[in-house]
Amino acid sequence: MSENLIIDINASKPEKYEALLPRIESLIAYETSLTANLANVSAALREVFGWWWVGFYIVDGEELVLGPFQGPVACTRIRFGRGVCGTAWKEAKSQLVPDVEKFPGHIACSSASVSEIVVPVIDKNGNVLAVLDVDSECYDVLDETDVLYLERLAAMVADNF
Ligand code: SME
Repeated sequence: MSENLIIDINASKPEKYEALLPRIESLIAYETSLTANLANVSAALREVFGWWWVGFYIVDGEELVLGPFQGPVACTRIRFGRGVCGTAWKEAKSQLVPDVEKFPGHIACSSASVSEIVVPVIDKNGNVLAVLDVDSECYDVLDETDVLYLERLAAMVADNF
């Protein structure tokens, strides 16, 4: 991938993902550093979609620990089953939260974030390795289309973990 993603800002959301995902796939396939790959995935997503916060929490024992991300500083550790991230880990299932106030136990790292998606990164044995967390300051930005493509992205990340 070149330094500049050059993805049409007027393209539809699916068009943006269709252009971005193959480029991320080739980018991470040739780099063995997990940190470098998660950092570049976070940066690429932020560059194309402009979300408030996007990044990874990595499973470490009984906790998720903050990994590479783009956006404001965030809480560093989340316990199994806690918040949206801990729930995605526990259930090994994506969480689409259109309004964080309506998600019991949501962890507010930033009061500006009002909606979010958390997608688990799952290996071939069904173990959750990490979660990809996307936060928006808008109520009507994140939807099932994002979940669909972010799950494809999470599968690529799992293959290169
Ligand atoms: N809101 C998340 C915590 C992570 S921050 O938003 C970056 C949660 O409830 O798990």
